[in-house]
Amino acid sequence: MVSRIIPVETFDLVVFGGTGDLARRKILPALFKRYCSGQMPEGSQVIGAARSALSETEYRVSVAEALREFAGEAAHDAAAVSGFCDHLHYVAVDARGEVGWADLAALLNEGSVRAFYFSVGPGVYSDLAKGLKRHGLTEADTRIVVEKPFGHDLETAQKLNQELAQYFDESQIYRIDHYLGKETVQNLMAVRFGNMLFEPLWNAQYIDHIQITVAESVGVAGRGEYYERSGAMRDMVQNHLMQLLCLIAMEPPSQFEPDAVRDEKLKVIRALDTVAPHHIVRGQYTAADGVDSYREDVDNPRSKTESFVALKCQVNNWRWAGTPFYLRTGKRLSERDSEITVMFKDTPHSIFGDEAGRHRNELNIQLQPNEGITLKVTIKEPGPGGMRLVDVPLDMSFAEALGPKGQSAADAYERLIMDVIRGNQTLFMRDDEVEAAWAWTDPIIRGWEARGDVPKPYDAFSFGPDDAALMMRRDGRNWRGLGK
Ligand code: BG6
Repeated sequence: MVSRIIPVETFDLVVFGGTGDLARRKILPALFKRYCSGQMPEGSQVIGAARSALSETEYRVSVAEALREFAGEAAHDAAAVSGFCDHLHYVAVDARGEVGWADLAALLNEGSVRAFYFSVGPGVYSDLAKGLKRHGLTEADTRIVVEKPFGHDLETAQKLNQELAQYFDESQIYRIDHYLGKETVQNLMAVRFGNMLFEPLWNAQYIDHIQITVAESVGVAGRGEYYERSGAMRDMVQNHLMQLLCLIAMEPPSQFEPDAVRDEKLKVIRALDTVAPHHIVRGQYTAADGVDSYREDVDNPRSKTESFVALKCQVNNWRWAGTPFYLRTGKRLSERDSEITVMFKDTPHSIFGDEAGRHRNELNIQLQPNEGITLKVTIKEPGPGGMRLVDVPLDMSFAEALGPKGQSAADAYERLIMDVIRGNQTLFMRDDEVEAAWAWTDPIIRGWEARGDVPKPYDAFSFGPDDAALMMRRDGRNWRGLGK
């Protein structure tokens, strides 16, 4: 299979927060890998901007270190690292003051695609937007890339949208949700809309329910301050799980084009019902197997923030009436396992009699680790002894099916950053989409606050609180095991 690199125009990408954690772990390694794949045209520049007074050489040395730590094997190639570093520059900029803006302006090239990545706290977004405009650094098609969290609730998200809209047109604003850049997440759309097989069955008549799980085994140590203010609902459900839900539930867009896709996603979010308190379980991990508890990790012995959420929701439209969606995410769970499972209904009548057992098809889309898709189909158990049915997986591990290309799928950030340079907003969230997601999330969080709800404890490295399993069992269903 031939790898296909879509050429991009020469670009200047300024990374505000260029010395920060996200830049070091994700953004710069992603750019480096694109460089290695030949997708950084001659004359392109990556300009780190932050408060610290660093020389260009010091910055290059620190980026080279970050690449060696976070860019995998490609960074063992010293010539590649040094070639990439030749594209790097650094400017100390004070977002709220005057320092550095003129230096930054002097570095930018006329005629290059211009993008500014706000890899900083959301409190600085509008200062940066204003600074860019005030110092004349923007052109009609300049892009800004805004990280999550995009607001803390509906009100703050609206305010942020309004502030950014003072300086930039919506077509220039790229709100990142890195889940949309993941290979298998995009494959979800390919599976749904590139096959005749699934779409006719993709509705409440044939689908019993859908499970979306994003389980992590890591805790929150090191990010305690941020996490304590967010919790799993704001950190994961409002954005990543919501986006997965949208892609699973949306109507086919007329074309794979930014507004066509985002219009359909928005309709899903707006059709979501309000989640009743007994359809949601919050959890918080306790110490086990040698790791600290959530409360120790965030240094707050009375914390009521959730590190786990499981909920049942309903998309109220013709396609989905009666098919529940179960969403589950948590830290310090037994496995790192992100997947979507579509559970089809039983066949309406078993011609083989009760002894043959009842079986149902299951489509499992594994996002990470080990990206792949499995369809469970029912067949006759081989051998004599009458008609006995068994389920077997039709398995498509991308690594096996696609060889090295399947294994080396571009990281979400690589794809998304290149989409910014190409000017393609399909995989980015629109203002109304983010606001609709908050409008759905806010009442849930407010309800917890009003009731003084305390999350249920669960052991680190378990499946989460028992109540999450009970919630499913009440409906006569079970969560899929993690790491299965
Ligand atoms: C981030 C969250 O957006 O996504 C983190 O803030 C979470 O808490 C991370 O760990 C998960 O991303 P991934 O790509 O590792 O699944």
